Amino acid sequence: MGTHASRCKIVVLLVTFLSNQSNVECEDEQGTRSESCDLFKGSWVLDDSYPLYYDALSCPFIDPGLNCQKNGRPDSMYLEYRWNPIGCELPRFDGQNFLQKFRGQKIMFVGDSLSNNQWQSLACMLHFAVPSSNYTLVRSGGGALLNLSFPEYGLSTAFLKNGFLVDLVVEEVGRVLKLDSLSRTQHWKGVDILIFNSYHWWIHTGRLQTWDYFQVGENLIKDMDRMEAYRIALTTWAKWIDSNIDPGKTKVFFQGISAVHNHGSEWNEPAVQDCRGQTKAVEGADYPGQHYPGEAVVKDVLGNMTKPVYLLDITLLTQLRKDGHPSNYANGALDCSHWCLAGVPDTWNELLYAMLLES
Ligand SMILES: *[C@@H]1O[C@H](CO)[C@@H](O)[C@H](O)[C@H]1NC(C)=O
Ligand SMILES: *[C@@H]1O[C@H](CO)[C@@H](O)[C@H](O)[C@H]1NC(C)=O
Ligand SMILES: *[C@@H]1O[C@H](CO)[C@@H](O)[C@H](O)[C@H]1NC(C)=O
Repeated sequence: MGTHASRCKIVVLLVTFLSNQSNVECEDEQGTRSESCDLFKGSWVLDDSYPLYYDALSCPFIDPGLNCQKNGRPDSMYLEYRWNPIGCELPRFDGQNFLQKFRGQKIMFVGDSLSNNQWQSLACMLHFAVPSSNYTLVRSGGGALLNLSFPEYGLSTAFLKNGFLVDLVVEEVGRVLKLDSLSRTQHWKGVDILIFNSYHWWIHTGRLQTWDYFQVGENLIKDMDRMEAYRIALTTWAKWIDSNIDPGKTKVFFQGISAVHNHGSEWNEPAVQDCRGQTKAVEGADYPGQHYPGEAVVKDVLGNMTKPVYLLDITLLTQLRKDGHPSNYANGALDCSHWCLAGVPDTWNELLYAMLLES
């Protein structure tokens, strides 16, 4: 730990999210304020009180491909890491307090399978905090909307699958990704806490690419710079948020880009090809690999918004967790992009909880 970084408790979370940071002002033991700390800069430390929140083998909300323990993953150190921000302490998630504090509220994750990953984690964390409280799980919208509610608390948490946020429409010419069109926003309204995410689908190529054309205005475009397309789409989303969200009623988060581990050269193990066999986090607070081009796009777009959007900036903390993927315990496949549950997304929810408490 650096000498400037006194351990301290979160006192105030400054609303500086327009400048895409989440600062926490800190106090040391004498109660003196020190410089603010960034929740997203830090390192992973082993903490034998973890795993704290749930037993994956008996959580009913985990996709088969993410339940690494059930799929026979033999090592368990990946369950024992705690995220340790430089200069401040991340509060433990308290599911009972969460349910009471946000009683009556609707929460929704909108995005791709990484949003789903976080939703499943939160579902397990809440259910295990109140195991005898009834819940209902409803799937609707042709399977695109999963909604878990706790009637005793009037609280619900939903996942809405929407990998691009903007519209993907099948037309005569083919599958058209309409960068300036948002028509599936009806579910976004009336939600108290919205957590969006979109990135990984934008960089798919070949067989994984799910569109044939981009469209902007009337122009059909066969291909364009992916980050330019991403920027136009996120700007479309940002305009919708700016003109439809009342910050007094709704808090909006954007889940930053989650890391993938397909090249050991990124973490100084050039002989390693992917995340297979990784059982340890990268030590320290720096990741040697590159930034993702989308990170700058997200920060630029959020920085230009008129309504506050809180960036859940998980990129660095996921980059350091080459050990956290399902790897070859993904129910048959090799998966170095999603995350085992229990695991890394539990930390995203600890961070979400901390930001909600202080916002
Ligand atoms: C849960 O549901 C059952 C059956 O509907 C009911 O008997 C029970 O009282 C409920 N429990 C709580 C804590 O609401
Ligand atoms: C989820 O279910 C609850 C309880 O029925 C409901 O109030 C809420 O609107 C639903 N959420 C969504 C996004 O449909
Ligand atoms: C954000 O605003 C700056 C300054 O006005 C501008 O240069 C930039 O292009 C904008 N970015 C986006 C994504 O709109």
